Amino acid sequence: MGDMKKVKVAVTGAAGQIAYSLLFRIASGELFGLDTKVTLNLIEIEPAMKALEGVAMELDDCAFPLLESMELSSDLKTGFDGINWALLIGSVPRKAGMERRDLLSVNGGIFKPQGEAIARYAASDVRVFVVGNPCNTNALIARKNADGVPEDRFFAMTRLDQNRAMTQLAKKSGVAVDNVSNMAIWGNHSSTQFPDFENARIGGEPAEKVIGDRAWLEGEFISTVQKRGAAIIDARGSSSAASAANAIVDSVRSIFTPTKDGDWVSLAVCSKGEYGVPEGLQFGFPVVSDGNSVRVVEGLSHDDFARQAIAKTTEELTGERSEVVELIS
Ligand code: NAD
Ligand code: LMR
Repeated sequence: MGDMKKVKVAVTGAAGQIAYSLLFRIASGELFGLDTKVTLNLIEIEPAMKALEGVAMELDDCAFPLLESMELSSDLKTGFDGINWALLIGSVPRKAGMERRDLLSVNGGIFKPQGEAIARYAASDVRVFVVGNPCNTNALIARKNADGVPEDRFFAMTRLDQNRAMTQLAKKSGVAVDNVSNMAIWGNHSSTQFPDFENARIGGEPAEKVIGDRAWLEGEFISTVQKRGAAIIDARGSSSAASAANAIVDSVRSIFTPTKDGDWVSLAVCSKGEYGVPEGLQFGFPVVSDGNSVRVVEGLSHDDFARQAIAKTTEELTGERSEVVELIS
């Protein structure tokens, strides 16, 4: 046991529905590995502290050998003290009929103090992963308020969209999902995102060639992925939770694990101007990891259809950024 590693993870919204799926997977060792002891800093707002105590009781009752300790708090100094990872989930989910962007006025304000507190109290290697919607712009707000934390330590989640897109391609082509690779989600985690079928592969071949139905790819495929969150809200009466938690596990692992040769994963990162995307937007790109940091995959080509789709989602994110100027200046 002497060689065990340790990681300290803050999770906001820890009494919420996503956290209820996620925390048990972290505490079991599934996220950081069986060689890593985990400390969980569980952060909630005051009215949810009693429910959070119930979640902590259940975590205790699992007797997870890798769960070293838990700290329950509604105070950001305590919550972010010395943490290596901040998983920012806590915020209000949308209801039927809303776009995620409609949440900006409700949720945006949460991420300024959290960014400030992460900069003050977290460990020097902290990485911040934002799930609360609208997650790209909330990540931008946290990043802009976290003085001294390098901008490449901030991520927002487009992995659920990637996973959704992979499954749609697998079903259409009648293959198992692990045959689908190189599935990039460009732009915003919203109904303007561009699931890039042009660069996706099925069994190593271009997805378009395997599927042979460009009209389906441009139409039903894209709109199913773009609207999947809303379809789940409609069917379940509340937004995706277990699949979101699963995508958090996939995303975080994809940041600290070297990417499989020739493949890439989808994450929203701080644009350095790649593909003409304005610098500083928190933008969904195809990225690869070397096990320590990620970089955007460059040199992919796009036809006019893809260029227009990427321009549309860029415009939406630029608009969201201008809605929150008072939180980021
Ligand atoms: P939920 O309502 O079940 O839980 C949210 C929790 O956050 C609640 O317990 C609430 O008390 C807490 N909270 C609110 N404000 C907080 C704050 N300032 N600090 C700490 N905790 C706070 O919601 P959920 O289903 O778990 O979803 C959480 C968020 O994740 C929503 O914004 C949802 O839209 C988003 N989401 C994103 C993706 C994605 O792919 N990026 C996927 C699914 C859900
Ligand atoms: C999702 O994609 O399922 C989440 O972002 C929740 C939502 O509001 O759609």
